[in-house]
Amino acid sequence: MKDVNVSKVLFSQEEIIKRVKELGDKITADYDGQIILIGILKGSVIFLSDLSRYIKRDVRFSFMEVSTYGDGSVSQNVLNIKKDLDIDISGADVLIVEDIVDTGFTLSELKKELLKRNPKSLKICTAFNKPSRRTVPIDVDYIGFDIPDEFIVGYGLDYAQKYRNLPYLGVVEGV
Ligand code: IMP
Ligand code: MG
Repeated sequence: MKDVNVSKVLFSQEEIIKRVKELGDKITADYDGQIILIGILKGSVIFLSDLSRYIKRDVRFSFMEVSTYGDGSVSQNVLNIKKDLDIDISGADVLIVEDIVDTGFTLSELKKELLKRNPKSLKICTAFNKPSRRTVPIDVDYIGFDIPDEFIVGYGLDYAQKYRNLPYLGVVEGV
């Protein structure tokens, strides 16, 4: 495989943090009681940790790990729950925190699964969104940035498990 390199910065650390704070303010205004943030491992970890600190509400964390991507590039048509929640979400205000919505498949399947558990409300917040790639319609309640159809890394997103810790959002060459 060809070596991959980050060829371009789409959003700097400063731009991302400014936008994440705006999302936190909006979420703070939209809710009143407790919010359960469900982080989708591993990509949402950086976003969730930043976002949660800008939400001025009683926030709880829980995590799920799901897979729909086999080799880091091709969507498969099955949602596999690799790690499930450790809490009961029935009657709770739940906000799914995701790194990126691409085809929409992962979130639409996950939403169906979580709705079966009877939360009081279920919304979705994503750091990044690739609208041009959508194949499954899905309502996303909070979006950090819309991005073009390019393979991105950093701010939690990986290519073959690398680059998650880049503080900015970059485009990878050679994918
Ligand atoms: P979906 O196609 O909306 O189901 O997206 C599934 C998952 O693909 C996302 O949660 C990411 O983990 C991964 N993904 C999609 N696009 C990118 C990208 O540009 N960079 C890194 N991961 C991506
Ligand atoms: Mg993901």
